[in-house]
Amino acid sequence: MTVVALGADHAGFPLKEDLKGWLVAHGYDVVDLGTQSAEAVDYPDYAAAVGVAVTAGKAGRGVLVCGTGIGMAMAANKVPGIRAAGCSDAFTARMSREHNDANVLALGARITGREAAIEILETWLAAEFAGGRHARRVQKIIDLDRLRGPESADAQAR
Ligand code: RB5
Repeated sequence: MTVVALGADHAGFPLKEDLKGWLVAHGYDVVDLGTQSAEAVDYPDYAAAVGVAVTAGKAGRGVLVCGTGIGMAMAANKVPGIRAAGCSDAFTARMSREHNDANVLALGARITGREAAIEILETWLAAEFAGGRHARRVQKIIDLDRLRGPESADAQAR
């Protein structure tokens, strides 16, 4: 079963706890990288922690929650090798896996309620990358990390 790394800021903390409960109840191993309270924190710190957990192989997938999902997605996509998708419905969640091979899901607790978030998460975890023509396009996304310089490209190769 896939290990899922979880991260949230203060706005996403309550939904992150709900999602953790659902994941554990459904047999997933969870790595909870915080935050652990509603005290204000900075979302890029948690996006980075989850992104690195995924690219280091400590988790197969990552899930991030902030107020909108936007900041988390922006920050996580700065981690070489991460393809984070901000999703607010199950269709985009499924497409982000089938077409984009997203390895991080970003949710917005201020726009997506608990039940919808669980539906999105369940759909996203169940969906598989379709490969084929999409593999070439995803490889072009991966290749964009080279624009950040040789260190980034090296990190990808490790
Ligand atoms: C925090 O107020 C909020 O800015 C954050 O949770 C997130 O929505 C940023 O994208």
